[in-house]
Amino acid sequence: MTDADKEIDFEVDEEDLDTTPVIEVPSEHLSLMVNDLHVSYRVFGAKKVGHGPGRDWGVLGRLARRGAKQPPVREVKAIRGVTFAARHGEAIGIIGENGSGKSTLLRAIAGLIPPVSGTVHVASNPALLGVNAVLMKDLSGERNIMIGALALGLTTKQVKERFQEIVDFAEIGEFVNLPMKAYSSGMGARLRFAISASAVPDILMIDEALATGDAHFRAKSKARMDEIRKSAGTVFLVSHSLATVKSMCTRVLWIHDGKLVMDGDPAEVCGAYKTFVDAKKKAKAAG
Ligand SMILES: Nc1ncnc2c1ncn2[C@@H]1O[C@H](COP(=O)(O)OP(=O)(O)OP(=O)(O)O)[C@@H](O)[C@H]1O
Ligand SMILES: [Mg+2]
Repeated sequence: MTDADKEIDFEVDEEDLDTTPVIEVPSEHLSLMVNDLHVSYRVFGAKKVGHGPGRDWGVLGRLARRGAKQPPVREVKAIRGVTFAARHGEAIGIIGENGSGKSTLLRAIAGLIPPVSGTVHVASNPALLGVNAVLMKDLSGERNIMIGALALGLTTKQVKERFQEIVDFAEIGEFVNLPMKAYSSGMGARLRFAISASAVPDILMIDEALATGDAHFRAKSKARMDEIRKSAGTVFLVSHSLATVKSMCTRVLWIHDGKLVMDGDPAEVCGAYKTFVDAKKKAKAAG
């Protein structure tokens, strides 16, 4: 082993050292490849366990401690060694409990958070993604459509051409002129989806956006997702609704505690996840 082969990663825990195979699939079929991805958040100023809530050192105490110690930093390991490859034309559902790492995984794939280690390869620029982060509540729907669509890579001319289409798709009517904080959560979600889907991106990522939509909007969203898949795109859909995931996805990833525990057929993975959730509920009720 040469020095160059040795990769020292101080962040890795022993439990994270399960050897994840490198996937080898002909690259022309792949739209995205995630290899042994680790993502952490650093939480500054977090109290050490055991300090108890609201402990105050007082002015003298704080002065005495000044310079002696850095403020405590806690590391939250949100994604701990996830590996998978996505192909063109797939609609991939991502399920898992609250805090399991679904949104973090999408954000890391979108390039919004740098990984601690591991790699994300995308065949083309992952358009969309983080529209959730981009939209601004104080601005009107119109301004958000302009900014959001430009952020997705559309030209000003394309945004103008597709503007009405986006408004119609979102079914927000006159509300387009009002600040987004005046929208119902359904309206906001519909607008987010309409903007996200306007770019016909190679990779479309939707995080919970459909959860608040009604049946009619879900049907329209599914049609749009199918269109993107047919034009050889890949769709990711994070949702707590197993019915939505089952009806819209061709493949499902189950994330638990930052790890990929199952990857496969929607009915199978959703079934296994439901069994797990039900068992957990039962155990909680019993004890
Ligand atoms: N900005 C942040 N700073 C610190 N920790 C964070 C941050 N965002 C998420 N986390 C932590 O990372 C872990 C994964 O969170 P994430 O939001 O990815 O979960 P999720 O599966 O999307 O959950 P949900 O179903 O509730 O949306 C959790 O432990 C969460 O507390
Ligand atoms: Mg989330």
